[in-house]
Amino acid sequence: MAFKRTLITSALPYANGPVHLGHLAGVYIPADIYARYLRMKGEEVLFVGGSDEHGVPVTIRARKEGITVQEVVDRYHNLIKKSFEDFGISFDVYSRTSGPIHHKFASDFFRKLYDDGKFIQQTSEQYYDPETKEFLTDRNIKGECPHCHSQGAYGDQCEKCGATLSPDELINPYNAVTGNPLTKKETTHWYLPLDQYQDWLSQWILEEHKEWRPNVYGQCKSWLDGGLKPRAVTRDLNWGIPVPVEGAEGKVLYVWFDAPIGYISNTKELCDAEPAKYGPWEKWWKDPETRLIHFIGKDNIVFHCIVFPAMLKAHGGYILPDNVPSNEFLNLEGDKISTSRNWAVWLNEYLEQIPDKQDVLRYVLTANAPETKDNDFTWADYQARNNNELVAIYGNFINRALVLTNKYFAGKVPAKGDYTDYDQETMAELNRTKDEMLRLLEDFKFRDAQKEAMNMARIGNKYLADMEPWKLAKTDMARTAAVLNMALQIAANLEIAFRPFLPFSSEKLRGMLNLPETNLAHLGSFNLLEEGHQLGEVTLLFEKIEDSVIQAQLDRLARIKAENEAAAKEEERKNWHPAEIKAPTTIDDFDKADIRVGTVLECAPVKKSDRLLQFKIDDGMGTRTILSGIAQSYPEPAALVGKQVLFIANFPTRKMMGIESQGMLLSAQDADGKLVLTAISAPVANGAQVG
Ligand code: MF3
Ligand code: ZN
Repeated sequence: MAFKRTLITSALPYANGPVHLGHLAGVYIPADIYARYLRMKGEEVLFVGGSDEHGVPVTIRARKEGITVQEVVDRYHNLIKKSFEDFGISFDVYSRTSGPIHHKFASDFFRKLYDDGKFIQQTSEQYYDPETKEFLTDRNIKGECPHCHSQGAYGDQCEKCGATLSPDELINPYNAVTGNPLTKKETTHWYLPLDQYQDWLSQWILEEHKEWRPNVYGQCKSWLDGGLKPRAVTRDLNWGIPVPVEGAEGKVLYVWFDAPIGYISNTKELCDAEPAKYGPWEKWWKDPETRLIHFIGKDNIVFHCIVFPAMLKAHGGYILPDNVPSNEFLNLEGDKISTSRNWAVWLNEYLEQIPDKQDVLRYVLTANAPETKDNDFTWADYQARNNNELVAIYGNFINRALVLTNKYFAGKVPAKGDYTDYDQETMAELNRTKDEMLRLLEDFKFRDAQKEAMNMARIGNKYLADMEPWKLAKTDMARTAAVLNMALQIAANLEIAFRPFLPFSSEKLRGMLNLPETNLAHLGSFNLLEEGHQLGEVTLLFEKIEDSVIQAQLDRLARIKAENEAAAKEEERKNWHPAEIKAPTTIDDFDKADIRVGTVLECAPVKKSDRLLQFKIDDGMGTRTILSGIAQSYPEPAALVGKQVLFIANFPTRKMMGIESQGMLLSAQDADGKLVLTAISAPVANGAQVG
């Protein structure tokens, strides 16, 4: 089908914290590159974003910070909006779901489905906290993970092992906020019977959208193969859009029902405000000649490919997404990015700590985009890509072309000459690279597309290195002029080619070239600058990033890691309970163990063992050797010399690592698993019996 216009959406981020580089890499940079690219092509485009302000996470944040939920979403909506502006994410509209326009729109949408009989109503038992008198779902419930058995898994996901969970799977579920154990209570909800859309969805996705990315197609296929089930679209919660049905007090629309409708209501908000510029909102959502593209992260695939299309189909009259380019996840220095564990590079902090380097981050995140698999962001890679690619290739070429023009031609574009074979080959190669870049952009392959843009800069560098205008200038000014003309034309091409990826740098380069903003049709031309055109002021397009900048970021992450480890230890201590008292013993049984006092004469690690320490003990009658598996607790064993300890004197002798151990030292196991030697509080004769 021939489309007339493109509507681009990017997942609405939860307003429960600032946005981090995982968000940027996964969703917003690719969406922005695509929007900028289509606009440069002269297409009619609308790029819609906004904050997702409902759901449980914002209410948890509010309780944690002791402020109202509205205050939380106000704070983070504004912060997120500013971060996106700062990074040049070129939304046509960035609105929010807690506003009245969205509330009314989503409420009406629900009501139409309700009136048309598209929902089923079901009563079921849900977790309930009898003390706070509230139903709990999703992230409001915590408990033990049924898979990895770590404590503190959420009702929708275990952050330790990554498993997707439902609250019923948790072992010993409790209220995540109060810690209260939960009971079950009956409640009524509305469900979208996805099973009724199974055949239609299978046909539409599996047959008609085989071109979707393999990760997206594969996830859809496994959901469909598993058989779709009815999904609740309402919740018992006091934050959200009230269910517009009589008798549904205390219930709101499920956040995943209202949030995607936010794409539509945000479009409507913009179109109603500027009808002359954007036309009616229906043009964007109901005209089959509009192509709808959703940019999302992989945890959102089922909602955008299955649930939301089923909602739109149930409603009727809406177009469906033509493609859903979803990325995998970006890790940070080898660990999963986590808002709750503060394991992230927050965009607002990044710009405070490394000012004016938006494009460097954009470049690195695209070069490393998790398009086909999870990827890792490291600060070492960030520095290397800046210094070895942006500075050494792109920046270096631009600088040489402009500085040489200043030197030999007083900053005026010199005359072109007759093209040599080599010139023609260079132009052809640049155009081949450009065509490849455009093909990749069409295909949502932004990482490879950006590589081609950098290859265009490499072509420029090679041209200058081969032509050596600084040598030519000694003998042949006309050819020097022709070579620099070529180089400047390549520079002007790079400004266009990099524009979707690095908008700030292209703007800066336009200033240096003293050029107005052109469109994509000019890319590949070698007549972008006329002879005699006066260039602007030359500055460095990119700057080297020093080791100290990188080290500061690594130090920051090391601090966070240490804090997290301390917090985890503290959590373990809090949850620690002494073991139950053993079954009663008899005096005879106890009497059998000969526990005595001794003094440590020597203590050293056992070679080739990271567990064992070798003790020489004065037992009052002589000395004996005892081995003990407590090396992890005592990194400086010599410090134990002189201490009095307790040991079992009649313990069977055992050989370990070729050494005979003549007894056993008594130690206690602490809450964190650490073994601590028992010590005597006042000096006692060695060999004294304990009993
Ligand atoms: N807030 C969700 C998330 O961060 C995304 C919502 S996308 C929308 O995972 F379609 F629902 F808006
Ligand atoms: Zn787990």
